[in-house]
Formats: sequence, C-alpha cells, structure tokens
Amino acid sequence: MSTENTPTALTNTSPGLHSAWHPVLRSADLLHNAPQRVVLLGEPYVLTRINNTLTAFVDKCPHRNARLSDGCVVGEHLQCPYHGWEFTTQGDVAHVPALGKGATLPPHTALSSARVVEKYNLVWLAPEEPVTNIINISEWNDASLRHVWLEPITIKAAAAQFIDNFLDFGHFPFVHAGTFGSGEDANIHEYSVEKDESGWGFVVNYEHTIENNEDPLVATGEHPLVQPRIMRYEFTAPFSCNLRLELPTTGMVNAIVTFCQPIDNNTTCLYSVMLRNDCPTDALAQAAAAYEMDILAEDLKVIEGLYDKIVPLERGQIHTRADRNTVEFRRIMQRLLSANIPS
Ligand code: FES
Ligand SMILES: [Fe+2]
Repeated sequence: MSTENTPTALTNTSPGLHSAWHPVLRSADLLHNAPQRVVLLGEPYVLTRINNTLTAFVDKCPHRNARLSDGCVVGEHLQCPYHGWEFTTQGDVAHVPALGKGATLPPHTALSSARVVEKYNLVWLAPEEPVTNIINISEWNDASLRHVWLEPITIKAAAAQFIDNFLDFGHFPFVHAGTFGSGEDANIHEYSVEKDESGWGFVVNYEHTIENNEDPLVATGEHPLVQPRIMRYEFTAPFSCNLRLELPTTGMVNAIVTFCQPIDNNTTCLYSVMLRNDCPTDALAQAAAAYEMDILAEDLKVIEGLYDKIVPLERGQIHTRADRNTVEFRRIMQRLLSANIPS
C-alpha cells in the first residue's frame, strides 16, 4: 500500500491539511471593520467582517507585500496600510490612491482568498476546497446542557499529537493519577471503531472506571470514589473531537469538545468547550473549567515533551490492540494528506 508519494508523517503544515476546515478565531474576537490577523498551517491570513460579510485573504498585499491586517476598513473596502490600495470584499482592487479616481487599475491584483464560515462560535477557514465537513456536535442545541468554554490555549505541540492524546485512553491511570485516573483501569478491554458515513471520522464507545473527584457525595460516603463511566468518542478529520462522558452513578453528562488550530510547526491553539448538565451555577461552571484545566495540564506535560512535532503515519511507532482508535486516526489522516476521497 505504501508508495513513494505516501506521506510518512503528519505535521502542522502538511500540505494536505489545506483541503479541510480549521478553526482560527473566536467569533467574538472578530469585530466589525477591524482586520484581524490569524496564522494557519504556517501561513498568515487577514479576516474582516464588513457589513456582516466575512472575508479571509492571504495577509499579503499584491503591491509590495505589506500586511493587510495592519490596515483598516474604509467604507466597504479593506485598505492596505502601505500605499492605501483598497480591496472589495471579493478581494478585487477598487482604488489605487497614487493613480487618482477613475484610473485604469492594474490587472491581476485580486487578493488570494480562502473559504471562511462561522460555526460553534468560531471562525473556520479552509485554504483550499475542503474534502471534509466541520464536525457535527449532536449535543450543541441540547437545552439541558450548559456550554462551559475554556479560554483558548496555545500549546507547543502538533495538533495531531494533541488529538492522538485526546483519543487515547490507555494513558489515564498514569498521566491522570492526580485527577481522575483510576489504577484499576489500566487494562484496556476489547473495543471497536466504527467509521462514520463520510469516511472522515469515527465513533468509539468504551466503558471503564474512574475516580470521581468531582462528586460531592464521595466525601459523605454515599457514593464510591471509583465509579463506572461511559465514554463515546466522535472524531472528525482533521482535528476535532467530541468526547461524551456519562456517569451513571451521578447522572452527569459532559460532552468535551475540542477543536484544534494548527498554527505553525511548533504551535497549536486549542478551542475547548464542555456541554454539561451538572453546572447550573456560574460557580459550578468555573469549578468544572478549573478541574478540566488541571486534567489538560497533566496531558500537556507529556504532549509538549514528545519528540518532534509530528505524528508518524507509517513507521517509527509500535501499535497494540489497545491503540485501535489512534491507528484509525492515522489511517484517515494519511488519506487526507494523500488527497484521496475515502471509499
Ligand atoms: S503594499 Fe499594499 S498598497 Fe503598497
Ligand atoms: Fe489525557
């Protein structure tokens, strides 16, 4: 199956990632008429919101390569900060001040645009025609679940390394011994990976036990510390995952959703939100967010120390039956990097 053209490693700037949607900014951080610079896959883009039209262009003026994101909005145009050229929301040049009004404008001056949409309170960008859809979060509009956002976090690791960890449950008793990891849970029992219809994602259901340090009834002795937990992982390429947790002992539902922005070869931004039924007050939501940050810190201690900022796709790592889901992640990503439509 291996050919010379098969990508052997996944990085934050692998070219195949251009054909997919990526989150690049919180919607609330893109103000009207204020150009905003973002970096995705090692390349800078300028976002604008002009009269409710969202645009994304490569952040480079075709005249002398100035940063358009340092410019401003004039009327309905994006104006370059260097010589004042103005561009429409389609990216066409509309005005060159040095030539005066009504002048013949230079040809071939359109900005290089990217596809851009808003979903899940985030701005998403696809540099090239995407072959995958943005993940579907079935709990998103469930009124019984409160949306508890974590602040966006920039980490020193590849998005693929983060997702590889997010999907992995063999590390819980070791990495998470200080939070929920239960020593009785080291043995990974059989589980299956179900591909979704699109071929760009999968679902894994898995039941295990944790130490439930968030349950106040543990301290009173009404509930045991070690409790069963039902997990459902939903992954969608390239770097989105929804981990739905259910605790039958307490009735808690918590869907932890993480979207990754591969910024450059060393850096990834994480956008995470928990959809929970056990946080009716702000204080409980804050406590839940703080606990999740403690868990994330445990993961980052390992992830940011991994060798290289890559996930090998062919050789260089050993897989066991316990790694079935992270092997499937690699298969899907190898197809994306090969730009093959899944069968
Ligand atoms: S560099 Fe943009 S107008 Fe000259
Ligand atoms: Fe973890």
